[in-house]
Amino acid sequence: MPNSLDLRNWLDAMKQAENLKVLRGADWNLELGAISEMNVKQAGHPALLFDEIPGYPDGHRVLTCTTSSPYRLSSILRATQTYQHRELVQWLRGKPKEWQSRAANFPPVAVETGPVFENVVDKEHVNILDFPSPLWHEGDGGRYIGTGCAVVTRDYDSDWVNVGTYRVMVHDETHVGLDMVSGKHGQIQYQKYVQAGEPFPVCIVIGADPLCYLISGIEVPYGMCEWNYIGAILDEPVAVVHGELTGLPFPSGAEIVLEGFIYPGDTRMEGPFGEFHGYYQAGAKPTSVMSVERVYYRNQPIIVGSPPAKPPNDYSYSKAVMRSALLFDALLAAGVPGVEGVWAHEIGGARMFTVASIKQRYAGHARQCGHVLSQCGVAAYMGRYVVVVDDDIDPANLEEVMWAVATRSDPVYDIDFIQNAMGSKNDPMSVAYKSKAMFSSRAIIDACRPFDHIDDFPPVAQASQKLQEEVRERWGHLLKL
Ligand SMILES: Cc1cc2nc3c(=O)[nH]c(=O)nc-3n(C[C@H](O)[C@H](O)[C@H](O)COP(=O)(O)O)c2cc1C
Repeated sequence: MPNSLDLRNWLDAMKQAENLKVLRGADWNLELGAISEMNVKQAGHPALLFDEIPGYPDGHRVLTCTTSSPYRLSSILRATQTYQHRELVQWLRGKPKEWQSRAANFPPVAVETGPVFENVVDKEHVNILDFPSPLWHEGDGGRYIGTGCAVVTRDYDSDWVNVGTYRVMVHDETHVGLDMVSGKHGQIQYQKYVQAGEPFPVCIVIGADPLCYLISGIEVPYGMCEWNYIGAILDEPVAVVHGELTGLPFPSGAEIVLEGFIYPGDTRMEGPFGEFHGYYQAGAKPTSVMSVERVYYRNQPIIVGSPPAKPPNDYSYSKAVMRSALLFDALLAAGVPGVEGVWAHEIGGARMFTVASIKQRYAGHARQCGHVLSQCGVAAYMGRYVVVVDDDIDPANLEEVMWAVATRSDPVYDIDFIQNAMGSKNDPMSVAYKSKAMFSSRAIIDACRPFDHIDDFPPVAQASQKLQEEVRERWGHLLKL
């Protein structure tokens, strides 16, 4: 059975599991953004569905915090049970490779119609302001209808369809700005149309099953369609309908789809908008503009929002989980033994502060692990700090990790530096880089017990696991032990 990527099935499941809260009356103008941002920082927070947004018909809704908990992320990834961080990373290991290898077996299936066609607005009547696009933060350059979105485009000289998550700012009733960074697949396709002097057809999916933007927001190989990749995860193809103007395929259960063209040379100032690392990296800049010429939407449509902000933010948890699994696989592929856990911390945007725990087997093992973790393909872009800890430390627990750094490393002997590594102009520290070529450096901190003193290193002063379990059993009902 093809899968329409209907968001509402997932919402029903989350409601039943008490993982979704409906909030009525919050304003699109900053209030809803601030609530979401504060919510995501609380342990055990729910997803939020905003309804009765002032100035909009009841039922025109905004959904946030979809992927930001182990329970919700497990369900979105169709894991058979709920996993906590470490188990979720273990479950994911090897899966991206497997999904890629099976993607060709799951081309999307075209269906006649679907809920997304409940309302079809033609060019003369398009008004993007009919939807409650949030102004997420005080410093933003405008309202963003697209954050947890999926932008569908087609290659100029092949039939490759790409689906990528790129932010979408509302300019006016019929125009949006689309920020596709250089090197992203949508941008590569767009450049081919620019060179040919032809309009670039685009469909933007604003709201669907969160698996949609989870996958369009990660690096799927060049030339592969994300609809196929999602099909491989679901074990069934995605049901698509085709845009009437562009012929581009989008899920038949999508909430809102904007269809139109980027005409050659059409740019306007876009931004500023925050980045995944928590900074406004650039001010407003000229960015391509899409003329929206048709809108499709379901009755009572839902915008899926996933704005960047200082982490932990709306999507930093999902990035941490996905990247940690990829890094774990990369360490093993490079021949590093004894890896017990990997965690790409949210505070570093899942790139800039990464920790691995190992069971030390030989002298040099910890450095080998740290250097590979710093320089393997998945990690090279915008890395900064890598820490290697022993297997009694939970790599996802910052307090434990920093305790190990403070007590098991000596700054002079245990921090290696790499200079002239791969930098980025998207790095907040790039303002201070001396080189034009955007190099940056790396620190690899070996916070494992020194291998030649593993047997005479001072023992840890804490109750044994066995004693803790006994005490929890007897006293846990009185204290939160
Ligand atoms: C919520 C979210 C927002 C994103 N915003 C942008 C953006 O504005 N521009 C961009 O180039 N990449 C953005 N990304 C990263 C891309 O989605 C990601 O690199 C993806 O792999 C791009 O698809 P592509 O590989 O098909 O080009 C965002 C990712 C997420 C999850």
